[in-house]
Amino acid sequence: MTPSAPPHPRTDDDWWRSAVVYQVYVRSFADSDGDGIGDLRGVRSRLPYLRDLGVDALWLTPFYRSPMIDGGYDVADYRDVDPMFGTLADFDDMIGGAHALGLRVIVDIVPNHSSSAHPWFTAALAAAPGSAERDRYLFRAGRGTEGELPPNDWESIFGGPAWTRVPDGQWYLHLFDPSQPDLNWRNPAVRAEFEEILRFWLDRGVDGFRIDVAHGMIKAEGLPDVGRTSADGRPQIELLGRGRLPYFDQDEVHDIYRAWRPILDSYPDGRMAVAEAWAESPQRLARYIGPDELHQAFNFDFMDATWSADSFRKVIDTALAESTIVGAPTTWVLSNHDRQRHVTRYGDGPVGLRRARAAALLMLALPGCVYLYQGEELGLPEVLDLPDELRQDPAFPRTGQSRDGCRVPLPWGGGLPPYGFGPDGGGPAWLPAPTTWRALSVAAQTGDPESTLELYRAALRLRREHTALPGGPDGAADPVGLSWLESEPGVLAFARTAPAGAPGLVCLVNLSGAPVTVDGGHGEPVIASQALDERDGGRMLPVDAAAWFVRPATG
Ligand code: BGC
Ligand code: MG
Repeated sequence: MTPSAPPHPRTDDDWWRSAVVYQVYVRSFADSDGDGIGDLRGVRSRLPYLRDLGVDALWLTPFYRSPMIDGGYDVADYRDVDPMFGTLADFDDMIGGAHALGLRVIVDIVPNHSSSAHPWFTAALAAAPGSAERDRYLFRAGRGTEGELPPNDWESIFGGPAWTRVPDGQWYLHLFDPSQPDLNWRNPAVRAEFEEILRFWLDRGVDGFRIDVAHGMIKAEGLPDVGRTSADGRPQIELLGRGRLPYFDQDEVHDIYRAWRPILDSYPDGRMAVAEAWAESPQRLARYIGPDELHQAFNFDFMDATWSADSFRKVIDTALAESTIVGAPTTWVLSNHDRQRHVTRYGDGPVGLRRARAAALLMLALPGCVYLYQGEELGLPEVLDLPDELRQDPAFPRTGQSRDGCRVPLPWGGGLPPYGFGPDGGGPAWLPAPTTWRALSVAAQTGDPESTLELYRAALRLRREHTALPGGPDGAADPVGLSWLESEPGVLAFARTAPAGAPGLVCLVNLSGAPVTVDGGHGEPVIASQALDERDGGRMLPVDAAAWFVRPATG
């Protein structure tokens, strides 16, 4: 990290600074062959939808060869497409189609662990303790008189101990499922392999990487105990945020990214990387970002903000302050494939949807890069009533928590489930859609000005037109590009800095319990998540609503 990095002269290589990236959960996006599983040809067939929605890039979740124990985050071959998702030729075809439409493509890379079906792990099991094959993973002797206890007290994020014993008595580390053994990133062979994997996909034209568990690859020397386990009631992972865990956010992890950055920079057209990283503070998270490390990290604090002006304001101010320090705008995200969908988090039903629509206008007005999760543009809620026997999240049996409810295949149209997910409208789907989704499909919402889909389409268009900074000619001078305006309690009000001579955008979000009067000085309304009340020449912004206004150019 470079403290107070100099302003960055923007070029198109900096596309990621203000991009809107759409997360495609491939398995649930569109199914081209009728097997009930989304695939790369399905993605290709829906590229025009994404172009018309108005996003700049796609992030595809893992489609590599995998036993699919953890939805493909258990990779058996990092250089091939799983037959369930298609072939490498389908990938090439998809990325070619995306680029032809002006869409960039980011792929997921999963370096913390492989699948236990990866040839390296099979070889490690077949080899003796102490062998070079075992050294690519984290095998250790157990504790206790017979080595019958795990080597330390680390817990899996999916519940239970992070160690599994193999027949010869050694244990191997898996921070996630036992089918996801952690790789040993202190072994140069592991580093060399992943540098080649990056090049493999860069050569195929990918525009960037989303790095899975980017904070986890290096473990503290000696693998020390955390000193607390779920025996005292709460999972160890909850200690994150109150201190450093010996398996997360170790300083040496940054050496890996300092080696990756020159690889990305050696390719033309602005190849980038975004970290899925968890750290104890925004300051520690910012260390992943900089001209010699990664371009971005997900700002999960925004996703975690509660529905209050104070909570959002605090997260936004912290993120903007960090942006200034690292010289790069932050990211904003409300949902992803690991979290309950935000319609449901914000209260479900009509209240949740109202708030989700307002949150979308808030997020899309902020300076920086936005990540949308497929289906949020349809206002999809979490599916809460999936039958247990259909749930596939490996965490479910161990924690009772499952991420399947945000992974239900998208409804595209038609009158019967799975609502156009398959090639001819009908067909199977790996998880069933609720019948209420008939009214939420892309076809059902298209052309309805009140729909959430049309709200996103319009907001994305207006964002391109009115938030030129920090992409505009003056962007380098003001990496933040936002100023707070005076407002009533419980109301967020800010203006985006406009280049000289351009009209400015103002965003208001009403998180108070009552409608608020809109100051006429904010300009003319261009979009609102709920219709504004026009009264006696004045305007009121309803509760749980957001609106954008355009102010005439100054000077
Ligand atoms: C991914 C999850 C996955 C985990 C293990 C993540 O944070 O987003 O879906 O289960 O890493 O790879
Ligand atoms: Mg399929």
